[in-house]
Amino acid sequence: MIMDVRVEKAAKNELKPKPDEKSLGFGAFFTDHMFVMSYGNGSWNDPVIKKYQNFSLDPAAMVLHYGQAIFEGLKAYRGKDNQIYMFRPKDNLARMNKSAKRMCMPEIDVDEVFEALKTLIRLEQAWVPTQQGATLYIRPTMIATEAGLGVRPANQYLFFIIMCPVGAYYPEGFNPVKIFVTEKYVRAVPGGVGHVKTAGNYAASIMAAVEAQEAGYTQVLWLDAVKRKYIEEVGTMNIFFVIGDEIITPPISGSILPGITRDSVLRLTRDWGLNVMERRISIDEVFEASRNGSLREVFGTGTAAVISPVGSLNYKKEVCSVNGGETGSLAQRLFDEIQKIQYGHCQSPHDWVVKL
Ligand code: COI
Repeated sequence: MIMDVRVEKAAKNELKPKPDEKSLGFGAFFTDHMFVMSYGNGSWNDPVIKKYQNFSLDPAAMVLHYGQAIFEGLKAYRGKDNQIYMFRPKDNLARMNKSAKRMCMPEIDVDEVFEALKTLIRLEQAWVPTQQGATLYIRPTMIATEAGLGVRPANQYLFFIIMCPVGAYYPEGFNPVKIFVTEKYVRAVPGGVGHVKTAGNYAASIMAAVEAQEAGYTQVLWLDAVKRKYIEEVGTMNIFFVIGDEIITPPISGSILPGITRDSVLRLTRDWGLNVMERRISIDEVFEASRNGSLREVFGTGTAAVISPVGSLNYKKEVCSVNGGETGSLAQRLFDEIQKIQYGHCQSPHDWVVKL
């Protein structure tokens, strides 16, 4: 049964002016409405689409103290036909349930929430950008709202979806980014929550990112916490290497995020008959490949980042330039193909695309 979502539209004079699509940045502008439902007494209640507004939270709300917070990121795209498309939306909602399980939070009904999301996007369709490369970013989030300071799973939660028109995530756009490989900090430990999209993972990554930026780098590449040797991911995306004729990405081992764009790249490259593998890859192997000339490409994948070429890596003060700092041909081909699929410009393989 699909839940009954109440829709309380904002008054016309409360609607916000739309931002200039050429200077959206990422996550700076929010649409007029949001979806909210609350959890208590063992069930999700009172689903409503209402004006985007502040929440009122008890200062003892458990999310503020012990960080039970999970989120997702997905996008809606406006095609050339002016229709709105979504890319693997139920995969994001299903992943959110995996996060919820690990964080002892209640699961959502994927089908019901997807219906509510579609209603929200239809209401906000004027916010889906028309410029190529710009999209409507969708952020489903769940937080623990019960007031209390005992460390245990909360009994009350809020689930909400907010949306914002966005441009490229990195200031570089689709141009290659510079990545700093940190040996000082780690992101996730075996048995921890590295595979979960929980707020604390991002909070813990900020110091390394700040230090990388101070050194002139866009992002941090994380190594495994035990040996500080094997590559894991970049804070905001998964990572791929092209060495010789092999395309390599670290396996889903429990400490990296199982990215939906990562999975799509694996499937597309396999469909194309390329030699792609999920295997452990050490930072030394990458630098050795750079020295012997077999490192051809490095690129990141993510909902926000899409396909993001990496132009150079800095590890222990040694800098390796990748493909002369230029976008490689595989990254370009994947970027073009994924965008074509996401914007509904071609038939989607694997039923990935949903037309609104
Ligand atoms: C995404 O790619 O959607 C993310 O959630 C990464 C980031 C912006 C935190």
